[in-house]
Amino acid sequence: MNRRPAEIVGSGYDAMADRFLAWRDTIEGDPSDRWAGELVSRLRPGARVLELGCGAGVPHTRRLADTFEVTGVDISPAQIQRARMNVPRSQFVLSDFTELDIVPCSYDAVASFYALNHVPRGLLAPLFGDIRTWLAPGGLFLTALGTEDAEEWTGEWLGVPMFFSSFPPKTNSQLLDEAGFESLLDEVVTFHEPEGDVAFQWVLARR
Ligand SMILES: C[S@@+](CC[C@H](N)C(=O)[O-])C[C@H]1O[C@@H](n2cnc3c(N)ncnc32)[C@H](O)[C@@H]1O
Repeated sequence: MNRRPAEIVGSGYDAMADRFLAWRDTIEGDPSDRWAGELVSRLRPGARVLELGCGAGVPHTRRLADTFEVTGVDISPAQIQRARMNVPRSQFVLSDFTELDIVPCSYDAVASFYALNHVPRGLLAPLFGDIRTWLAPGGLFLTALGTEDAEEWTGEWLGVPMFFSSFPPKTNSQLLDEAGFESLLDEVVTFHEPEGDVAFQWVLARR
C-alpha cells in the first residue's frame, strides 16, 4: 500500500534527526539567517509567531524565541522532542501542519524554513489560504519554497525514504497572490548543499 507523503516525511525525520542536524552544518552559503532577520526586524517584541516544520528548534526557533512568543509545529516526534529540549521556553505541537485547526487572527507572523517543499504541491494553495486566516491583519509570512517543477519526488535522502514536491517560482508567487498576500520580498537564492547547488524561493509577504 502507498504511504502518505506526510507519513514518509515524519518517519524519515524520526530516523535521521541527528544526521539532518550534522548535514545542515555542512551547507555553504545558507541564507536562512539573513531571511529570519528580515522577519525579526519587522516584528514587535512579544509578537506571536507560528513556525511550521520547526525541526529540532535550532537555529531558527531558538532565535525567534529570544524576542517572540513562538509555537513550533512538526510532524516528527523525534524533531519535536529535540525542539522541546533545545528551546524550553517555546510551545511545540506534534502535528501535520496541513491539518491544523487554528482560530483566525491568532498570529502576528508565520515562518517556515525548508519545510514546504515536503508538502504535496496540490496542498500549497489551501495551506497558503489557511496561513492567511491564521494571521492577524498586517501579519507576516516568511518562507523558503522549492523551485523545481516536480509533482512528487520519492527516494532515498540522508539514508531514509523521503518525499519532496514543488512548483516553479512563478507558480509559487501566483498562488500567494491568489491567497491574498501582498509580496514584500521575493527572491530565488542558490546555495551549496553537499550533494550540489540548490535554489529556494524566499518570500516575505503580508496579510
Ligand atoms: C528540512 S527540515 C527543516 C527543519 C528546520 N526548519 C530547519 O530549518 O532546520 C523540514 C522539517 O519540516 C517537517 N515537516 C515537513 N512536512 C511537514 C508537515 N506536513 N507537517 C509538519 N511538519 C512537517 C519535518 O518533519 C522536518 O522536521
